[in-house]
Amino acid sequence: MFKVASRCRVCRGENLWEFLDLGDQPPSNALLRPAQALEHEPKYPLRVAACTDCDLIQLTHVVAPALLFPADYVYRSSVSAAMTAHFAALAREVADRFVPKNGLVVEIGSNDGTLLRSLLGRDLRVLGVDPARNLALEATASGVPTLPEFFNAAVGEAIRREHGPASAIHANNVMAHVDDVHGVVKGVAALLAEDGVFVVEAPYAVDMLEHSEFDTIYHEHMSYVAVGPFARLFREHGLEVIEVQHQAVHGGTIRVFAAPAGRRPVHPSVGEHLDLEKRIGLSSPETLTSFARRAANLRRTLCALVDDVRATGKRVVGYTAPAKGNVLLNYCRLGPDRIEYLADATPAKQGLLSPGMHIPIVPPDHFRADRADYAILLAWNHRAEILAKESEFRARGGKFIVPLPTFEVV
Ligand code: TMP
Ligand code: ZN
Repeated sequence: MFKVASRCRVCRGENLWEFLDLGDQPPSNALLRPAQALEHEPKYPLRVAACTDCDLIQLTHVVAPALLFPADYVYRSSVSAAMTAHFAALAREVADRFVPKNGLVVEIGSNDGTLLRSLLGRDLRVLGVDPARNLALEATASGVPTLPEFFNAAVGEAIRREHGPASAIHANNVMAHVDDVHGVVKGVAALLAEDGVFVVEAPYAVDMLEHSEFDTIYHEHMSYVAVGPFARLFREHGLEVIEVQHQAVHGGTIRVFAAPAGRRPVHPSVGEHLDLEKRIGLSSPETLTSFARRAANLRRTLCALVDDVRATGKRVVGYTAPAKGNVLLNYCRLGPDRIEYLADATPAKQGLLSPGMHIPIVPPDHFRADRADYAILLAWNHRAEILAKESEFRARGGKFIVPLPTFEVV
């Protein structure tokens, strides 16, 4: 069901230094049906370490992919309007800069096809790859052909044989989810055209450390992406990082552009990010123990606030039921005795229970009619969109508890 990682996933060194233990937790997207045998819910250690050789931050326990990415995966990229626009802008930029007429654009972990769909109507070809069968079928039916597979070296080679080389390969929020990163990058190198680009977008380890974003840590996120360790990984497969862009989404994300080595000029942003990572020290004990201490402080502050307001008769609920929220709730042990429900707009989540804490998930309409006093904004990364959407709640005196990146009650 899980294995202990004794070697670094990128450099294969054995110097992994554990700096934070978030306890035994269920997979954070493994929502439960109310009729399920809750007492047998599987939980796995959620602990994180840094490789002191190559600086890759990674989990010490790796849960089997079949358990983390079930065939009926509930996460939908398209639920957030802001994320849909974000991916459309990325797809457009990459197509404009790198994809010739009739070129092939592949997305690894294409989910419901949100990014590739934005390219339909342009003079190019798209192909998604996603192991969630329900999503792959849905995407294909909606016009984005999608292979229901885990991408690896064999799949990369097979796509090239059938469709030719890819001008662009996207991997959004997926490199962190992969145990065998060498297998994926090998497949990318096999599929990529000589003048093609591989574009990886992922939450940035530097932002996670600097902004106390420990709720980014969950079993699906086996690695925490930074330029240094990923440049080293790419190099082994003949790829070179040519540009790095920083984005504000998901609490701080980077886009790493890689190309076959020596084929394209290297932008100064690459060196700038490498310097930043050196300065912060991604495997430095001071940086990592300070991060762990801030996680423990947040747990104390949040639980104290929930208990204090409940002691005065106020009611507390949660807004949204994202994976990161489940990490926070499990780490703080905030269950349905204190948090009455989680309101989430994803239809596939409604009617289910949150993993570990078993808090019922309801539609946002329920939240709007219910008039709770406090709502923990678990998807704090969508703060602006949600505060705008739920302005009524605050207008009549409701308060959002925003846990991160800075604890605030608004
Ligand atoms: P994400 O940060 O991983 O995209 O997850 C966001 C979660 O929040 C997802 O379950 C959908 C939910 N959500 C809402 O319920 N309403 C919203 O307005 C937004 C933006 C997200
Ligand atoms: Zn390493």
